[in-house]
Amino acid sequence: MLWTAILLFHGILAVFVIYTRRSRKRTEPPLDKGNIPWLGHALEFGRDVAIFLTRMKKKHGDIFTVRVAGHYVTVLLDPNTYDDLLSDTKALDFKRYAQLLMQRMFSLNMPNHDPLTERAWMERHFQGPNLMQLCESMQNNLQLLFNATEAARNPLQWRQEGLFSFCYSLLFRAGYLTLFEVDRNDITQLTTVYDEFRKFDGLLSKLARSTVKKEERRVARCAQERLWELLSACWLGGGASRAQGNTWQQSYLQHLQSESVEQESQRRAMLLQLWVTQGNAGPAAFWLLGFLLTHPEAMRAVRAEIRSLQEQRHPLVSLQKNTPVLDSVLSETLRLRAAALITREVVQDKLLQVSGGREYLLRRGDRVCLFPFLSPQMDEEIHSEPEKFKYDRFLNEDGTERKDFFKRGMRMKYYNMPWGADGHMCVGRHFAVSGIKQFVIMVLTSLDLELCDQQAAMPSVDPSRYGFGMLQPISDMEIRYRLKPTRSYLHTHQ
Ligand code: HEM
Repeated sequence: MLWTAILLFHGILAVFVIYTRRSRKRTEPPLDKGNIPWLGHALEFGRDVAIFLTRMKKKHGDIFTVRVAGHYVTVLLDPNTYDDLLSDTKALDFKRYAQLLMQRMFSLNMPNHDPLTERAWMERHFQGPNLMQLCESMQNNLQLLFNATEAARNPLQWRQEGLFSFCYSLLFRAGYLTLFEVDRNDITQLTTVYDEFRKFDGLLSKLARSTVKKEERRVARCAQERLWELLSACWLGGGASRAQGNTWQQSYLQHLQSESVEQESQRRAMLLQLWVTQGNAGPAAFWLLGFLLTHPEAMRAVRAEIRSLQEQRHPLVSLQKNTPVLDSVLSETLRLRAAALITREVVQDKLLQVSGGREYLLRRGDRVCLFPFLSPQMDEEIHSEPEKFKYDRFLNEDGTERKDFFKRGMRMKYYNMPWGADGHMCVGRHFAVSGIKQFVIMVLTSLDLELCDQQAAMPSVDPSRYGFGMLQPISDMEIRYRLKPTRSYLHTHQ
């Protein structure tokens, strides 16, 4: 027993010494281990990734390696090098880290899961005629849910609500109705799924970092189990409860079955998909409407654009395609509030050439991370006054989309990267853009909408959400709204 303890102690000591003794090789990026043994910078990283990486960028430049909870993570903030990195699928592996997160966040293990086959399957559903059908169905579902709101039932009455929950709840439920198997006779189930999802979503970043406390773990677990049950009730129940058939969810289920994924994992994978497909659009719509409500000039420009299309009697569906001002507002919103961390594992040593020609060695066994939020999105060499919301940042003077952005005289391929890049770029981006625009147009054409406090500023972001797609606010923003007395457009042009 004593010997086992001594051997164990020596083993732990050896691992500890190996980790703390790592030193920088001449060709490697600057190494910053932090002061705390093993943990390194983990606490600062978990508290606020953006502040931490900004500090490291000032200290070391566009590439550096930091120690985070025993791992060495090389952070790259040079957009001109992103392509070289992301296209190298031999030296850099997407799957291992994705599987680790799947386990931590969704209690899901799919060892034989092949991300490439799944991507190909997803692409079939979110492109071409299938995409058109999904967008149409999303439009109808948004309208259906909107018509069921109190505002639509009591047109003259003003209602008060938080803007974040207003946007998230409507877009989430419409997206869920569009993609998932729902018993349409039981619409209240929609609200239950949304409520449980919000409980779960609130703890996701902690689950991913393994920093949940005991009580939080219990809450997350309960919400998870409830959602597994709710999401599988329709398709496992079959018979009477079975809804319309041919849904995206059913097709996904068949895909999993064709990959021989076992039934319990099929159930759990549905929650992962619920998060992937419904977790970002609602928060994005919140920021967009929040920016419009706090920037009257931007609101006037968007309203004028929609009005002019209405005057030309564009149907709502094509209305979405002719909106350069709204498109610029959306791009600017995503620039300021989309903040995914793109992470890969280095499975072979790799030499990486950065702007300026210098080469760095990425070491096998480390992780490599891109954080496009810092660069290009908030890079002051690419975007003037990057902290400011400028609704026309992505507009040319002639009203067309602006695509030319420069850094140190070089035209940038990546000047805004809310959807990631290369082989793992967001598959659902067209569906997401369409849903957000449909929602915003519906709200602006149907409702009188204003802030309860006209002087209110946008709430700040919850720093724990950096790294997980769309940011969320630390608190909500109260709005008042009622149906427009002349809510003619939507009814007459459907
Ligand atoms: C504003 C909304 C959204 C944002 C900002 C967003 C952002 C992203 C980003 C940054 C990635 C790349 C992650 C990486 O490379 O590691 C990604 C991947 C993905 N997104 Fe989205 N997304 C959004 C909405 C959606 C929607 C609505 C869907 C589906 C309906 C979707 C489906 C996916 C899928 C399936 C992937 C994985 C692609 C792969 O690994 O090959 N996303 N998303």
